[in-house]
Amino acid sequence: MLLSPQAERNWEGLCEVLEDVLEDQSHKQLFALEIGSGTGQHVIRFAQKLPFVTWQPSDIKEECRDSIKAYIAATHVKTVLQPVLLDASEPWDKWAGVSRNSCDVIIAINLLQYSSFKTAQGVFSGAGQILKPNGLLMTYGMYAVNGIITPSCNEVLDEELKKLNPEWGLPDLDVLRQQAYGNGLRLERMIEMEDYYKCLLFRKL
Ligand SMILES: C[S@@+](CC[C@H](N)C(=O)[O-])C[C@H]1O[C@@H](n2cnc3c(N)ncnc32)[C@H](O)[C@@H]1O
Repeated sequence: MLLSPQAERNWEGLCEVLEDVLEDQSHKQLFALEIGSGTGQHVIRFAQKLPFVTWQPSDIKEECRDSIKAYIAATHVKTVLQPVLLDASEPWDKWAGVSRNSCDVIIAINLLQYSSFKTAQGVFSGAGQILKPNGLLMTYGMYAVNGIITPSCNEVLDEELKKLNPEWGLPDLDVLRQQAYGNGLRLERMIEMEDYYKCLLFRKL
């Protein structure tokens, strides 16, 4: 089981956002896809707090999928499916058999700044296809706004990410908004979280 100290710190705030936005649907059984699940800590915590949601975790890396499997086994959660290999930069019809209009929720936590723009494009075009009407895409991370990154410590982070991989870095909020719009979603809410992180909630029209 991999352990991310950051996931241990931020899961509660993220879970509160999900509880808040999904509260009015808690009488229904919902289906949620997580893209770039990483260790699996988030999906397990969310499943424990939101029992009316069935969760499909996924990751591009085998070591992450193995970790998620280990968390499922250790916690005996019944509403988390076995993780699947899903590369969000691929067209949605290659997303491990996830079908059109099948998801109520898609979440991507700290994915967009650690992946290429092609991945961001894939997340939005995939969400446009696999979310049900009125479904929700939640992304969490740090963002540039109109090409500007503030405060300066976030500029440093952006530079460090680009040194690790020139395709990585803080995505621009307005570019993401355009991606969303082009795929039938709109930015509904932006929630300021701790340490300049933001939660973006996009609604499928
Ligand atoms: C910074 S980690 C975040 C993990 C987890 N969501 C968290 O917040 O703890 C980014 C994750 O995205 C995955 N990832 C990167 N590119 C991806 C892609 N194109 N499709 C799906 N997952 C991807 C990585 O393998 C990694 O697990």
